[in-house]
Amino acid sequence: MSVILAIESSCDDTSVAVCNNGKITANVIANQTIHQNYGGVIPELASRVHQQNIVPAVAQALKDANVTKQDIEAVAFTRGPGLLGSLLVGVSFAKSFALALNIPLISVNHMHAHILAHFIDDPKPEFPFLCLTVSGGHTQIVLVKDYFDMEIVGETLDDAAGEAFDKTAKILSLPYPGGPLIDKHAQLGNPLAFKFAEPQIPELNFSFSGFKTSILYFIQKQEKANPNFIAENLNDICASVQHSIIQILMNKVKKAAKQYNVKQIAIAGGVSANSGLRNTLNKMADELGWKVYIPAFQYCTDNAGMIAIAGYQKFLKGDFIGQEVSPQARMEF
Ligand code: KG4
Ligand code: ZN
Repeated sequence: MSVILAIESSCDDTSVAVCNNGKITANVIANQTIHQNYGGVIPELASRVHQQNIVPAVAQALKDANVTKQDIEAVAFTRGPGLLGSLLVGVSFAKSFALALNIPLISVNHMHAHILAHFIDDPKPEFPFLCLTVSGGHTQIVLVKDYFDMEIVGETLDDAAGEAFDKTAKILSLPYPGGPLIDKHAQLGNPLAFKFAEPQIPELNFSFSGFKTSILYFIQKQEKANPNFIAENLNDICASVQHSIIQILMNKVKKAAKQYNVKQIAIAGGVSANSGLRNTLNKMADELGWKVYIPAFQYCTDNAGMIAIAGYQKFLKGDFIGQEVSPQARMEF
């Protein structure tokens, strides 16, 4: 038997989970709404709110899982990558908790955990599989050979896919984080109403910086001719931008699947909550004979459930870390 407490605090969500013998029995996510006022995450504010949220979130997770502090056998935590001040809150809490109870600590890489979220619920992928990890900070195609044997085979050279969603939303004066709102409006619009050129990037890599600028110029030009352009076409703009981002992502995944001769395809990270991406992936599965894996919504965006399941795999191997551990804003994959 193993009962693991997991802490995630890499960005703006304070999350605490409990993993009981490989099953997630609590996954508390305390969102920070304060950043909506600023159009993006303010690191200084994020760490302060983590300080306020972490103890109540732990209490709630223990309650949800119906366990006490004394039942916990190890503490898993996100060591990085992420915002240093945010990570410090979670890492310091995890260290203190483990020290007080004299139990081992487990260090987890946030990007590995997004992928390992696929091992929370059934059906679980078999190795090897390809995972498209798309979040606010990362866009990667990863060849997953084993739980902790993963290779990045393609990645963004500049902005992440989530940033392309969030920055488009900002251009359209939608509040932060814009990804879910673009998704909502896109469901009511025509994805072929406007065309945005696909960036020509070698191999399996991506670039969203020029793409984002092309959207800005397009909107500015249209607004010159019609000041109500955004209001009159919001759903179509969102649908078209979303369609273009999905095309860019899926074309590279198709290429990777061919190159590595893998037919098991997974998606992970906040953008994998996007309904258009989920639908497209399911359609491609039918067309290309892929078996696809899409996590439940609560395990797509940042959550401690994924840290707990990654921690559980390390627990089974006895892979623990000492009290001298410190967070890493940039952590090697
Ligand atoms: O993984 P995540 O929660 O945090 C990071 O580690 O970055 O990802 C957050 C990103 C944000 O850019 C957010 O706009 C995007 O995921 N996102 C979405 C959707 N839900 C979240 N993007 C498009 N459609 C969605 N439904
Ligand atoms: Zn994330």
